[in-house]
Amino acid sequence: MGYANRRSMEASLNEAQLLDTQRAFDSVAADYDGPRGNNELIQRMRVTLWDTVAREVPAGSQLLDIGCGTGIDALEFASRGYQVVASDWSPAMVGRTRSRAAVAGLESNVMAVHLGVQELDQLKDEFDGIYSNFGPLNCAPDLHAVAEQCARLIKPGGKLVFSVIGRICPWEMGHYAMRGRFRRASVRGTRGPAAVGMNKHTIWTYYYLPREFYRAFDSLFSLESYRALSLFMPPPYLVDTYRRRRSWYERMGRLDDRLGALPLLRDMGDHFLIVMRKR
Ligand SMILES: C[S@@+](CC[C@H](N)C(=O)[O-])C[C@H]1O[C@@H](n2cnc3c(N)ncnc32)[C@H](O)[C@@H]1O
Repeated sequence: MGYANRRSMEASLNEAQLLDTQRAFDSVAADYDGPRGNNELIQRMRVTLWDTVAREVPAGSQLLDIGCGTGIDALEFASRGYQVVASDWSPAMVGRTRSRAAVAGLESNVMAVHLGVQELDQLKDEFDGIYSNFGPLNCAPDLHAVAEQCARLIKPGGKLVFSVIGRICPWEMGHYAMRGRFRRASVRGTRGPAAVGMNKHTIWTYYYLPREFYRAFDSLFSLESYRALSLFMPPPYLVDTYRRRRSWYERMGRLDDRLGALPLLRDMGDHFLIVMRKR
């Protein structure tokens, strides 16, 4: 199938849907550093992205964060000496990132900008690395356009490190199927954007297998690696399950660390972490 055909088959998000998603994240920005956006299971996945970015992109260089949320990752990288442009479609999230940078005294290392992933053409800077953590790219209306903009914004040899919500999450399927919620159990199988509820709002979300995601980037970026995140560990919204048997699930976490990059296993999990290099 030709590139243009493939592209036109994926229904793009309209303006109203983008605004739904924006309102959803605005509504949770104030407490997003709490259990919803930064619990133990999320923090565990966060460290994997931090280590990967630090390995792939030299300290002191320029990073772009797409969908920065409250700026936890941007501030982590700023404290390690990177210069970060932290962007997000939710103005309330951008405000949180700005104040986090001010409190840490790292305003000169973090520039927070209100910019959707669909507006990357407005950026003029050049970056050594671009990262996106916990699914902002699942909300992008046109992944091929994101790939084109990343290719324009990144220096030769620069790296992309993205954590993306995957299609096959055995934990989620089992959890909802056991409760008779079969539609919820199969939501990640949706073709095109799915309406996912959060805080009485709607987030319009595309789910991807790693290979479906990479297809949008493959003419411009080579695939360096990908791995599962939270395959044996429960997904973050099941943090209470984790807390009830913490030491048992920590063992599951070690299995994630050891086995998550193996063929087949790397295609599953709550998220996947993918690394690409500019061709
Ligand atoms: C699950 S949160 C992750 C936030 C942050 N990266 C983190 O790790 O905590 C998803 C973020 O994507 C942002 N987002 C949603 N749609 C977006 C879009 N079209 N462009 C840019 N950011 C978007 C949301 O506002 C939200 O901050």
